[in-house]
Amino acid sequence: DKGNHRHFMAKEIYEQPEVIAHTFSHYLDLAAETVSLPELPFDLAQIQHISITACGTALYAGAVAEYWLERFARVPVSTDIASEFRYRETPLTPGGLTIVISQSGETADTLASLRYAKECGQKVLAVVNVPTSTIAREADAVLPILAGPEIGVASTKAFTCQLATLACLSVAIGRAKGLLSQDDEHRLVRAFMEVPRLMTEALKLSPEIEVLSRTLAKAQDVLYLGRGTNFPLALEGALKLKEISYIHAEGYAGGELKHGPIALIDETMPVVVIAPHDRIFDKTVSNMEEVAARGGKIILVTDPKGADEAHVDAVQKLILPEMPATVCPMVYSIPVQLIAYHTAVIMGTDVDQPRNLAKSVTVE
Ligand code: F6R
Repeated sequence: DKGNHRHFMAKEIYEQPEVIAHTFSHYLDLAAETVSLPELPFDLAQIQHISITACGTALYAGAVAEYWLERFARVPVSTDIASEFRYRETPLTPGGLTIVISQSGETADTLASLRYAKECGQKVLAVVNVPTSTIAREADAVLPILAGPEIGVASTKAFTCQLATLACLSVAIGRAKGLLSQDDEHRLVRAFMEVPRLMTEALKLSPEIEVLSRTLAKAQDVLYLGRGTNFPLALEGALKLKEISYIHAEGYAGGELKHGPIALIDETMPVVVIAPHDRIFDKTVSNMEEVAARGGKIILVTDPKGADEAHVDAVQKLILPEMPATVCPMVYSIPVQLIAYHTAVIMGTDVDQPRNLAKSVTVE
């Protein structure tokens, strides 16, 4: 049932404030302002290394979590494409944890990676949406993301609920290792509790994004740029746009711009810059200046301070409320998803069932 939406994808984008609140309520003690994970069959304080593996959008959720885990728990993390991880005979450190992330819990390469990690004596934690799936059954422990059924082939609410679950896990490991103080934990939990409201605010950008999408729909190629946790979000934005609108898109880390992709930029090239006003904002401003100098059309997704301080000609600024950096990838997912959605609708593609794609990839 699509409710009053035209597509399942729209319904699933719009239900995110409610759904993510549900996920957070499962992993947080709201009264105590603490993270409270279910009992796990291994000691979080003893984890020496984490390997994260998944495919597609789930992989990008893992790539965001890598930043959180390294920051909050100071644990070395390697994030890898499941189809590469499984065949590379990746050496895995004893005492390591492997995190597999999957909406369906049936993705062939992710499942094979799980089995490989187990053979290597790793503990395996599955972050899945379908709790009865093969991946959930075979893992040592499961953290369900509780997004509810996702029907649209393009993953939306599963992505943000994966992020919510992984954010809670990162804080729990940081606390277990004594690297986050109780105050840090309270502060982070309060920030997580604001996410549903911030997402509701972000959804109000929809009419603006719809207008903007008329420009994007005319583009041959679109570049997405971000730094820090907004880099995996740039990759996710590009994936989402190509899979449902069939417009070619690439995501890059801002710092990589001058190492190649800058050659693509001319007056016909829209560049979506995902840049809240964070500690590396100035660096992103230099990237935007480089794009602007070559006539690239900047679409800046930022906050009021970022909009104020970015003295570049942007064709559009999409302005979100100010928020703590940790919650940005969850909230900034909303405009990223809406850009892809509205552009695809204008292109007239089959948004919920894009060509050549399946919701669950059970063969490699
Ligand atoms: C993109 C998308 C895919 C999936 C990928 C993994 O919108 O949906 O990239 O994220 O096929 O699927 P799961 O999460 O089921 O393992």
